Amino acid sequence: MSISVVTSVLLFCATLALLAGATLIVWGSLAQRSQQRLTLRVLRRQDAGDTAILTLGRRSWRRLPAFRPGQYLAVEAAIQQSVPPLMRCYSLARWQRNPYRYQLAIKRAPDGRVSNWLADNVQVGSRLTVRAPSGEFVLQAGQDYIVLIAGGVGITPLLAMLDGLRACRQPPQRVVLLYAARHYEQLLWHKQLLSWEQQLPWFDYRPCLSAPEHDWQGWRGRLDAARLAAVTQGWPHAALYQCASDGLMTAMSLAARQLPLPGGTVIHQEAFGVTAQGSGQWHGVSLGQHHVSVEGGRALLAELESVHHFADASCRAGECGGCRLQLLSGDVEWLRHPVQPPQDGLILACCCSAKSDLALAAL
Ligand code: FES
Repeated sequence: MSISVVTSVLLFCATLALLAGATLIVWGSLAQRSQQRLTLRVLRRQDAGDTAILTLGRRSWRRLPAFRPGQYLAVEAAIQQSVPPLMRCYSLARWQRNPYRYQLAIKRAPDGRVSNWLADNVQVGSRLTVRAPSGEFVLQAGQDYIVLIAGGVGITPLLAMLDGLRACRQPPQRVVLLYAARHYEQLLWHKQLLSWEQQLPWFDYRPCLSAPEHDWQGWRGRLDAARLAAVTQGWPHAALYQCASDGLMTAMSLAARQLPLPGGTVIHQEAFGVTAQGSGQWHGVSLGQHHVSVEGGRALLAELESVHHFADASCRAGECGGCRLQLLSGDVEWLRHPVQPPQDGLILACCCSAKSDLALAAL
């Protein structure tokens, strides 16, 4: 199916859902990734806690490919000289109609091999190879009542959407941003968001800290159904865009289903990676000539990257298909439902953990 057909189907479904007062979930998909490659310079780097915010551009003052608010860049990381680069997707943080700069936020994470390498090695003047912007988690036209839900670095595509809304000739009726983080320093672009709240009559900014400093004046604790219901009270319908951890997105999707909005709710969400706890049970996995021991409950991709090069595995969330493997024997547990389910007999290593000893084959 072409992108335009997919988009038409999604829009048709969204319209039906709104008319029926139902809840529809639309996942962003990285499957139709752009193949156009660009080499860009790092022009600026700012560090905020465990996150590096990079500004990329060409050396000459030449325009970059345009993108839609919410789209991402796939970035190549040449971690080892002897093997092809690994690729990861990062949402574009700021939006302009005719961009000369791209901005990304790269957060260090315990199992973030590429993100950690980029955060440790990329400095002003470094060159990065990226694919031209892609992605289907994008702001849809004509939505008047919008809730944006971000967790930590998940603010990036939503910030671009706010840029897009600010540029609209006819602004929306209401836009609420619910932004969850642990500490104050993890609220990226917080001062910018506060100033937009002052300037824009239709924009309401609600940061929420789970481990706030003592003088924090905003919401404390976690985002939940009661808070979502409070900010959407009296709305005729809502479009909800979220980019956060799996846990937060699941909780807010359930909460959105309970909203008493006569016109219903459409939920758009971007995968952020699969997070899972180890079970403490270990299994033997063979992949080609390699044999490794992996812990149940953990995504196979992270466990197998030391023995197999997944050159096209960029999303780590069941969307790009770059981590497909053939399951020859054994049982896996799906940690999340993939956006693009693989054919029978195949698994996505980023979405599965081992339930028993496994025999796998590369495709
Ligand atoms: S890394 Fe994209 S589907 Fe697994």
